Amino acid sequence: MPLAVRLKKQGGPEVMALEEVAVPPPGEGEVSLRHTAVGLNFIDVYQRNGHYPLQLPSGIGQEAAGVVSAVGPGVTTVKVGDRVAYAVVPLGAYAEARNYPAEKLVPVPEGVSDEVAAASLLKGLTAWYLVRRTFKVERGQTVLVHAAAGGVGLILCQWLRHLGARTIGTVGSEAKARLAREAGCDHPLVLDASNRRELPAKVRELTGGAKVPVVYDSIGKDTFDLSLECLAPFGLMVLFGASSGPVPPFDLQRLAAGGSLYVTRPTLGTYVGKREDLLAGARELFDLVARKVITVHVNQRYPLREVSRAHIDLEARKTTGSTVLLP
Ligand SMILES: NC(=O)c1ccc[n+]([C@@H]2O[C@H](COP(=O)([O-])OP(=O)(O)OC[C@H]3O[C@@H](n4cnc5c(N)ncnc54)[C@H](OP(=O)(O)O)[C@@H]3O)[C@@H](O)[C@H]2O)c1
Repeated sequence: MPLAVRLKKQGGPEVMALEEVAVPPPGEGEVSLRHTAVGLNFIDVYQRNGHYPLQLPSGIGQEAAGVVSAVGPGVTTVKVGDRVAYAVVPLGAYAEARNYPAEKLVPVPEGVSDEVAAASLLKGLTAWYLVRRTFKVERGQTVLVHAAAGGVGLILCQWLRHLGARTIGTVGSEAKARLAREAGCDHPLVLDASNRRELPAKVRELTGGAKVPVVYDSIGKDTFDLSLECLAPFGLMVLFGASSGPVPPFDLQRLAAGGSLYVTRPTLGTYVGKREDLLAGARELFDLVARKVITVHVNQRYPLREVSRAHIDLEARKTTGSTVLLP
């Protein structure tokens, strides 16, 4: 029987245990998949540690690539042998094999390997909706991106370069600053607890006092207040993650004081909730990857059985770019 990670309770990395799990014949609208690569994402940490509630026991992981091994009744969009990937719930991607709804699969084109698909679909669709839907970035605009050398961050920097924007990025070390710069981040700033407060002044300096029309903030608790201070009047604060912890409740009056600002807390599920949006985003992403406009940096690989170590490294800010688990 195939192996899968099952959570019986939420907690530290040690709660993830590999078990043999039977994969029954696929039901109506489902396919059976044999995974070749599984994507690691920070949302998996929130689901493992209890930051996001889960109905237990549960699978974990929501991004993988693989091959269709059986199709259930009513499935017309894929056939046995197709190479596919996915990036949304139902959870259970940390597995050698599983059943999954056919309508949430995307085809993986030639020119994109399984590993790259698993390393980029969730993070790349996120970058896609952030710069093409949540705030349509235009040539010549300057934007602020936190965690610029992370999985989403490196893809975001390259997409922004492609759009002709100028990117100010925050990173945790000089080595990460180099990676972000290579990915198109024009001004990587190494931030830590000692100099974080200087961020708004640096952004003002780099923009001739104008500040930025949009901030993409996935760090949350440690950066939210500072990000608001970096926004130009009518600017948009895009809080799309909480890698340092959730942002506490905040006084809406601060949006007035900052210059009629906007705040949004987007999530990928809404932006790819309709199949046509999922396919449009995936097509745009994989086209840029196949044309080498975007390079997907698979900088860490772990055997699936070492998933706990992968989580420890991600949470300790030891990873850069994308990470895959290999079944
Ligand atoms: N809303 C959505 O639709 C959506 C979709 C995908 C991802 N996300 C969010 O986007 C973020 C990036 O996801 P990812 O999978 O690509 O992860 P990642 O950016 O590769 O990893 C997180 C990074 O955050 C930075 N960080 C700053 N303070 C941290 C702290 N206290 N603890 C841990 N990390 C800290 C670290 O980079 P530095 O050391 O350089 O600071 C770390 O490498 C996550 O917050 C995730 O939840 C949201």
